[in-house]
Amino acid sequence: MIQTLNVELGDRAYPIHIGCGLLSNSDLLAPYLRQKKVVVVTNTTVAPLYLEPLRKTLAVCGVATLPVILPDGEQFKTWETLNLIFDALLGTHCERSTTLIALGGGVIGDMGGFAAACYQRGMPFIQIPTTLLSQVDSSVGGKTAINHPLGKNMIGAFYQPRLVLADLSTLDTLPERELKAGLAEVIKYGLIRDPAFFSWLESNLDALLQRDKTALAYAVARSCANKAEVVAADEREAGERALLNLGHTFGHAIETGLGYGVWLHGEAVAAGTLIAAELSARLGWLSRETVERIDQLFLRAGLPVTAPKLGAARYLELMSHDKKVQDGKLRLVLLEQIGRAVVSEAADDVSIAAAIEARCT
Ligand code: NAD
Ligand code: GLY
Repeated sequence: MIQTLNVELGDRAYPIHIGCGLLSNSDLLAPYLRQKKVVVVTNTTVAPLYLEPLRKTLAVCGVATLPVILPDGEQFKTWETLNLIFDALLGTHCERSTTLIALGGGVIGDMGGFAAACYQRGMPFIQIPTTLLSQVDSSVGGKTAINHPLGKNMIGAFYQPRLVLADLSTLDTLPERELKAGLAEVIKYGLIRDPAFFSWLESNLDALLQRDKTALAYAVARSCANKAEVVAADEREAGERALLNLGHTFGHAIETGLGYGVWLHGEAVAAGTLIAAELSARLGWLSRETVERIDQLFLRAGLPVTAPKLGAARYLELMSHDKKVQDGKLRLVLLEQIGRAVVSEAADDVSIAAAIEARCT
């Protein structure tokens, strides 16, 4: 069964198809392929698994595949790697109308999307996410970026794909640690705006960990439905979209502070979310019982609930580059209850530092 959701963005609206075996479904891709060739950006891990099946499907559509195979890893989400895509696009005479497909996790999706946004000022772009994290979050919504040594995802563009194909069958080969990292972003939707989904996750986490396809299909679709609603209401993060960054200000500091790729993005978001919950409790917004309930779900998902000891001062320095900073003032996503988040300036540096220290081991 294929579930289809739409991201309602007027003349840039696009579908998200979710189901098993979508990589070999030429009917879903064909309407988006009007050229004789497409570029498929992927990496050295995903290419041996899924490039050939996709190439065959594209061939059924009458389209030749030009693969661009990048090194794998968050540490390669850089200008230098991005430039490899431009080298390939120019070297093979790609045109503005050539379609670029990103086949892989969030790193490939973010870099492929940024390349598509920049090449000849914008070429058609399709997301085929192959990790849980990219299926529930990064492939939807049009945020594209590379990292900078001073801050994560600091150089990028908003650039929407024309189509998202989330093939649940690709999750069969995903390493355990990556599956768990993806769950951090799934839990996020429950925490910020969907308390019934949070309760569903408490009941169905084991099925997700066992990769039960019915449970995965529900979790991916419910996550994408939440994300699509937020993005349709606030594409460029003037307000509500910032809530999707629960745990990310602390999480990005962990990723940048430890060096990209040491902790996975989802792991850093998990620990960061618990710092945000701790701070929310210290402000008197969240009960200790609720913090414990959140803690338990992340723990059951096999995710870290404490952060690495970088020192609160170093955290604050790293967080000063956060994209939510306005007039030099840090704004954080905090929780009022499970299912209700706010962007707040209520916490000062002293209380933020105290919450960080309380959650560092
Ligand atoms: P990733 O892209 O590094 O993928 C994780 C690992 O799994 C990689 O080694 C990858 O090669 C491998 N892999 C991918 N698919 C596989 C499969 N089916 N089978 C086996 N291995 C597979 O990491 P990720 O968690 O997918 O994405 C994290 C990135 O996404 C971060 O850079 C983060 O900043 C970004 N992100 C972006 C957004 C957004 O809105 N654009 C949202 C959340 C996260
Ligand atoms: N992952 C955060 C966002 O898409 O806004």
